Amino acid sequence: MKILVTGKNGQLARSLAVRAQGHDIEIVLAGRPEIDHANPSTFVSVLKSVAPHLVINAAAHTGVDQQEDEPQRAFRINAEAPAELARLTRLAAIPIIQVSTDYVFDGKSSEPYAETDKPNPQTVYGLSKLAGEQAVRSENPDHLVVRTAWVFSRYGRNFVKTILSAAQTRKRLQVVADQFGNPTEAHDLADGLLAAARFWREHQGFLQGLYHLAGQGRASWYEVARQILEISKAMGGPIADVEPIVGDQWVAKAPRPANSELNSERFAHDFGYRAGDWRDRVSSAVGNIIADSVTCHDIR
Ligand SMILES: NC(=O)c1ccc[n+]([C@@H]2O[C@H](COP(=O)([O-])OP(=O)(O)OC[C@H]3O[C@@H](n4cnc5c(N)ncnc54)[C@H](OP(=O)(O)O)[C@@H]3O)[C@@H](O)[C@H]2O)c1
Repeated sequence: MKILVTGKNGQLARSLAVRAQGHDIEIVLAGRPEIDHANPSTFVSVLKSVAPHLVINAAAHTGVDQQEDEPQRAFRINAEAPAELARLTRLAAIPIIQVSTDYVFDGKSSEPYAETDKPNPQTVYGLSKLAGEQAVRSENPDHLVVRTAWVFSRYGRNFVKTILSAAQTRKRLQVVADQFGNPTEAHDLADGLLAAARFWREHQGFLQGLYHLAGQGRASWYEVARQILEISKAMGGPIADVEPIVGDQWVAKAPRPANSELNSERFAHDFGYRAGDWRDRVSSAVGNIIADSVTCHDIR
């Protein structure tokens, strides 16, 4: 099975390429300039030349604060481009997986969010991603929308790298302790999407619709930061103290949900896959990032 994955330099795309190795799945990564979500006319020729069995749209404008200042660009990349990709895949009879976010919720629930809960995004990012979900759903009936959360990995930019990088230059870090979610390792997210792809191959069709897939266990940013620095210390990596602060003390353009925990039971039931526990996965990501930095002399 050949899968075209957009967002070739992103955490998820790179993880899909790694996790598909050794299986009978070929991942073709595409990104700028050959596929540019700001210019969806670039989609046609790539779809034609790759001729995939399935498309996973992992590209997105993920700069949550930046998007507050550029909503038009956010909607073009996160909503209009997925709409066009979904339309083209429907015309070519190709299914599509659209990856979305916990930030479609307002975070006011005290329970983990299920697929049946009503979204109420509070940011341009959340609004544009929700519009992307709706567009894919209406343009291509053979689709999955998979919402995930707090993605980290040894690749690209993420919270684990930010904390390790900050600890290289500062002795004391302040981290928000009253916002909760499910940290998700990108390899786990990739494994889940590959399980869904295999399901599609075996059944020649999806259980169409919406799924949540996030790491197991609830955490605050503060708890994650403590875990990162504990492991870093044990491995001889950067060291810093962490001070808990409340979300109101953290100046950011886009408000973050207080609780964006996702209930991933439906995905586990239908595709037989659960992501790993966040503590285990954060520990191994820290190990990998420190090992990588020994080679490239930097944690970015
Ligand atoms: N990261 C998270 O914490 C998180 C949480 C919830 C949901 N998600 C969702 O999960 C999916 C994968 O996220 P990720 O963490 O892998 O994101 P990521 O590491 O930020 O990667 C996003 C990719 O999208 C590409 N991209 C941005 N603008 C583009 C454009 N105009 N045309 C083509 N490609 C473009 C980027 O390309 P360049 O490398 O060239 O910039 C990058 O490779 C996204 O749908 C995201 O919304 C992520």
